[in-house]
Amino acid sequence: MAFKDLREYIHFLRQKGKIIEIDDEISPDLEIAYISRQATYRRLPTLLFKRVKGYPDWKVITNMFYSINSFYDIFGTDKLEEISKNFIENFMGNMPITLIEKIKSLAEFSKFGKILPKSKKPVFEEESRANLLSFPALKTWPKDGGKYFTFSIVITKDPESEVTNLSVYRVQIVNEKEAIVHWQVLKRGNIAAQKYKRLGIRKVPIAIVNGVDPAIAFIASSPVPPGLDKYLFAGIVRGEGVEVHELDNGILVPSNAESVIEGYVDLDDMRLEGPFGDHLGYYTPPDYFPTFKLEKVYLRENPIFHATSVGKPPLEDAWIGKAVERLFLPFLRLIVPELVDMNLPEYGLYTGIGIFSIKKMYPGQGKRAMMALWGTGQLSLLKMIIIVDEDVNVHDINQVMYAIASTVDPKRDVLLIDNVITDSLDHTVPNPPLGSKIGIDATRKFKEEVGRGWPEEVKDDEEVVKRMSTLLSKIVKAHDLLSK
Ligand SMILES: Cc1cc2nc3c(=O)[nH]c(=O)nc-3n(C[C@H](O)[C@H](O)[C@H](O)COP(=O)(O)O)c2cc1C
Repeated sequence: MAFKDLREYIHFLRQKGKIIEIDDEISPDLEIAYISRQATYRRLPTLLFKRVKGYPDWKVITNMFYSINSFYDIFGTDKLEEISKNFIENFMGNMPITLIEKIKSLAEFSKFGKILPKSKKPVFEEESRANLLSFPALKTWPKDGGKYFTFSIVITKDPESEVTNLSVYRVQIVNEKEAIVHWQVLKRGNIAAQKYKRLGIRKVPIAIVNGVDPAIAFIASSPVPPGLDKYLFAGIVRGEGVEVHELDNGILVPSNAESVIEGYVDLDDMRLEGPFGDHLGYYTPPDYFPTFKLEKVYLRENPIFHATSVGKPPLEDAWIGKAVERLFLPFLRLIVPELVDMNLPEYGLYTGIGIFSIKKMYPGQGKRAMMALWGTGQLSLLKMIIIVDEDVNVHDINQVMYAIASTVDPKRDVLLIDNVITDSLDHTVPNPPLGSKIGIDATRKFKEEVGRGWPEEVKDDEEVVKRMSTLLSKIVKAHDLLSK
């Protein structure tokens, strides 16, 4: 199931009664962000603002990822894991090569024809009068350093592999022709920029795209395994290749986007970005990031602008994190085969706390899994990893608490590591992007780990369970009657 573009998705939401269309005039200066956050907290569906103060030609859409249910609609299934499982089973087989090599080799198979990006004439046209100030960029919190694109997609091309990357990075508008791109050090945008720098190229061609099919917007904000083209990955999850158009600067953009800004990032022009009210619920202080210089703007007729606001959880980024958790679990199992399940809790800030269950088969496996996870993609940002046994439901925080309380000796089972890469938005970090991490091995211990045998867990006598079942049901029924 694939939506052709944002408009087709809006049409779908209208039919399902899952979009609230707002005719009252509302300002992009704090008002849209406030209403949107309140809507997400209240689990209201997507919002379409039809009268945006100061921007009569635009509509603004927010709250597109208002809960995990929005992803069930977008992907046409509530079993997000199955999408990647099927893909792995059907296309990746059991070839004895590494994940990344496997993924790179995928495009060579003819059966991939349907999911490969396809060239298509764009629906947008160049608009010479438009500039960065003509977009309804949001100010999201009172002390934000300016107006921001909060759900625009920054598209870069790796100069070595030519792999295209789409990523959601916030962009702070400076003036008609300049903006600041907030890509963090380990993100693919910055990695590509560093490669251009090594090649002696200081002006990195990019496109800033807004208003696309929600599956593409989601994939842009997801930690797709490095080396894998995000257009190809979007094709995998949509079941249909993305239609693309090549700009004059060589960047491929979705042909059905609402708006496209073509230009380059000037690596010699670093400016102070921020402060910005961020996903931890605090303002991140200003820091230096490179400047984007606009060359051309392309717009669709009556364009729609996609935006969001982050803040204290759970907002849209928390639900994106949940979908990432489900969709990427099967891929993660290729790297950490003992992994059974994972939970990035909504209130754990996505990069704050991760809980993982494993099939433990040998001593030391809990810490081994922890280190493998910290070494995998954006999981390297996780501040706290908790490892539990496979019989613990990672989504039930009480079960996790019990596992920690009943299996952990802090000196033996807690791992603290210092001066490692962390989420640079985390204000608690002493020297961003470097900080410390904590791992808790809350698995039952082997003899080698504890120095003696692990005690036997209490278990009821099966005969007594059978004998008492009728009496127990009677007591439960009596209680139900009393409480009615
Ligand atoms: C609403 C929203 C805003 C985001 N803003 C930023 C940002 O400003 N900088 C950043 O590095 N990542 C940001 N992210 C996270 C990236 O989109 C995410 O890490 C994604 O996987 C891109 O990583 P990649 O470029 O390595 O593929 C944001 C995500 C969301 C959902």
